[in-house]
Amino acid sequence: MIRPARAGDAAALSDLAVATFFETFVEGFGIPYPPADRDAYVAEKLAPAIFAARIADTDHGVWVAEQGGVAIGFAVAGPCGLPHADVATGDMELKQLYLLRSAQGLGLGGRMLETALGWMEARQPAAIWIGVWSGNLKAQRLYTALGFEKAGEYQFPVGSWRDEEFILRRPASRG
Ligand SMILES: CC(C)(COP(=O)(O)OP(=O)(O)OC[C@H]1O[C@@H](n2cnc3c(N)ncnc32)[C@H](O)[C@@H]1OP(=O)(O)O)[C@@H](O)C(=O)NCCC(=O)NCCS
Repeated sequence: MIRPARAGDAAALSDLAVATFFETFVEGFGIPYPPADRDAYVAEKLAPAIFAARIADTDHGVWVAEQGGVAIGFAVAGPCGLPHADVATGDMELKQLYLLRSAQGLGLGGRMLETALGWMEARQPAAIWIGVWSGNLKAQRLYTALGFEKAGEYQFPVGSWRDEEFILRRPASRG
C-alpha cells in the first residue's frame, strides 16, 4: 500500500533512505565513495529532521510504501531545485524514489512514481524534473516510459565526491 507520509514516519524514512542509498549506490552500482563523504552525505541529507521538515511542508509531497505495516519504499516531490537554466518558477521535481531491493521489479516503483506525478500535476501545470545517476539505466527506463527526456547533466555532491547525473524533464503540456 502507498500512503502519504505522516510526521511519525520521519525516523523510519531516514532509516529506509540510508538502507536504500547503500543498497543502490554502494552495493548495487559499486560507486567507490570515500567513507567520509558517504557518511557526511548520510548525516546531512538523509537525517530524520530532513524528512520531518519535508513531511510538514505543504510544498512537498512524501509517500511511503508499506508491506505489513513496515516501510519498504518512499518517494519525495517538491519545488525543482535542479541546476538547469530552463527551470521556471513553479516547476516541480521528483526528488527521491527508492524501494528496498526485495520490493523491486513488482510494479511498485511505477505506482509510486505515478502517485507522485499525479500530485505534482494536480498542483499546477508545470514542468516536472528528475535528477538520476547517469548509470542508473533501470530508473531511466521507468522515467522514459512515463514521458521524461534528458535535458542536461550535472554533478550531484555526495560530501566532496561528485556523481555524474542526468537531468530529465517532462514538459507541462504533453501532446
Ligand atoms: C527504480 C525503481 C524505483 C523502479 O521501481 P520497481 O518497482 O523496481 O520497477 P517497476 O516494477 O515498477 O518497473 C519495472 C518495469 O516496468 C516499467 N514500468 C513500471 N511502471 C510503468 C508505468 N506506469 N508505465 C510504463 N512502464 C512502467 C518500467 O519501465 C520497468 O521496465 P524495465 O523492465 O524495462 O526496466 C526501483 O527499482 C528502485 O528503487 N531502485 C533503486 C533505487 C533507485 O534507483 N531509485 C531511483 C533514483 S533516481
